[in-house]
Amino acid sequence: MSKNNSKRDILVTNALPYANGHLHLGHILEHIQSDIWVRFQRLQDNNCTYICGEDAHGTSIMLKAEEEGISPEELIKQVRVSHEEDFKAFNISHNNYHTTHSEENRYYSETIFKRLKEEGLIEEKEIEQLYDTEKGLFLSDRYVKGTCPSCKSENQYGDNCEVCGSAYSAVDLIDPLSVITKTTPKLKKSTHLFFKLSVLKEEIKNWLKSAQVVPQAINKLSEWTESEIKDWDISRDAPYFGFEIPEYENKFFYVWLDAPIGYLASHKNYLDKLKKPEDFNYYWNSDSTAELYHFIGKDIMYFHTLFFPAMLLKSNFRQPNGVFIHGFLTVDGEKMSKSRGTFILAKTYHEILDPEYLRFYFAAKLGTGIDDIDLNLEDFQQRTNSDLVGKFINIGSRTANFINKDFNNKLSGTLHEESLIKEFIDRGSDISEAYEKREFSKAIREIMDLADKANQYIDKMEPWNLIKEEKNKELVQSICTTSLNLFRLLTIMLNPVIPDLCSRIYSFLKVDEPAWNEMDKLLTSHEIDIYKPLLIRIEKEQIENIILRSKEV
Ligand code: 2FM
Ligand code: ZN
Repeated sequence: MSKNNSKRDILVTNALPYANGHLHLGHILEHIQSDIWVRFQRLQDNNCTYICGEDAHGTSIMLKAEEEGISPEELIKQVRVSHEEDFKAFNISHNNYHTTHSEENRYYSETIFKRLKEEGLIEEKEIEQLYDTEKGLFLSDRYVKGTCPSCKSENQYGDNCEVCGSAYSAVDLIDPLSVITKTTPKLKKSTHLFFKLSVLKEEIKNWLKSAQVVPQAINKLSEWTESEIKDWDISRDAPYFGFEIPEYENKFFYVWLDAPIGYLASHKNYLDKLKKPEDFNYYWNSDSTAELYHFIGKDIMYFHTLFFPAMLLKSNFRQPNGVFIHGFLTVDGEKMSKSRGTFILAKTYHEILDPEYLRFYFAAKLGTGIDDIDLNLEDFQQRTNSDLVGKFINIGSRTANFINKDFNNKLSGTLHEESLIKEFIDRGSDISEAYEKREFSKAIREIMDLADKANQYIDKMEPWNLIKEEKNKELVQSICTTSLNLFRLLTIMLNPVIPDLCSRIYSFLKVDEPAWNEMDKLLTSHEIDIYKPLLIRIEKEQIENIILRSKEV
């Protein structure tokens, strides 16, 4: 049962960024994608909560803190400040930003673990792993390199070969070396805790059938679900930065166990701050009717579509309604690269360019598929300049001046071409459907088509010629009033994508931010502000600067 019959209660999450480094544009792509959807839901008057936080545990955070001579807690604190600054700059509207290194997360990680154990789904097994004797550390796959057992390529990580693509276990690497000390690791035995995923295959497949996961991803996942599903090692030996497992001294929860549980923790933290702790059960009980969606990249889909839903099911929490998976970000058609200056940090970008350009460009490229998204820098400059500035903003800039200069900022009482206004409002429902389905590129195409129509209307009416004769004055006022109403309608449609620019437009129009269903509240006999340039074109030098700065970081 919904809490309020007319509104959907929706909870949205992003992948929690690791607390060991700055955000880059790949992170920002995902956050822009989800933020557009969240803002769209809020404009539809749905109750949409959007949460995120730091993914604070694991070996890499422990080692990075050590390298910097600070505690992991201090590192998390510092990185969090930088992440939050970047999200703010890109107008990402998280309701709450928390951390997996929190008491809420400890509580839910322990609760879920205990429930899985009570269900007989946790098993102890002795395994052999590579151990760096100099460092005193078991080496995870990313901390060991050696020769691929299949194709014999050198310098490959412990999980799979970047040359031939074969997957293997780190112990099978030929001539393994520890990435940390460059010494040869030894095999060492240790008892680990396993979550018995192998017995949950049917439940996992059932959930996949009912969940919103795109067929493209399901195909990839079925390679896994159709073969043997292995039990999942959820423990790590000390030294490890994480939560110690209750009743297992010196054993810690693997970072990937408590990371998604961080979604519950961040939500609980938010509800406590709102003084609504009782809402937690409404959202997370196994029979919840609230909606839960995770936006993630394709590299972590196994955790979100197999492991996490299985954990939730067996610990008596609800499962997600959908997992929205995106591809990787490439720049100029290739993997981001420091030497080419295309490994662009969020901060480098927003210190040079307005984030609204990138929000618009990503929206124009995003659909529901898991193919990679390319940021082609030349296309980015041309497309945002021509569509956002040349078409959209132009509608306001070429008609507002008449209202300011000749009509004392006052819109006319009547409209000139109401059929055009009606056409725009009617098209709103297709655009809203595209947003709902996360077909943002389709929404942008439709909106730009309308922007073309608005510009053609102004071209046809030529208010700059009409105004030359006194008898046409009233006509010019109503043409410009019609144009500015079209501009307002397009602003409502683009509001999820470019919220900051839209709020500048609403101030110019002297209106409060309208909801999606307020399109038909037209502006007549209304006073507007003096028009000031709302957005300027991107210059080539700015892009060059971004590349130059990215080479230096
Ligand atoms: O891949 C990553 O960047 C992880 N930090 C994502 C974690 S998502 C969630 F499970 F916390
Ligand atoms: Zn190989």
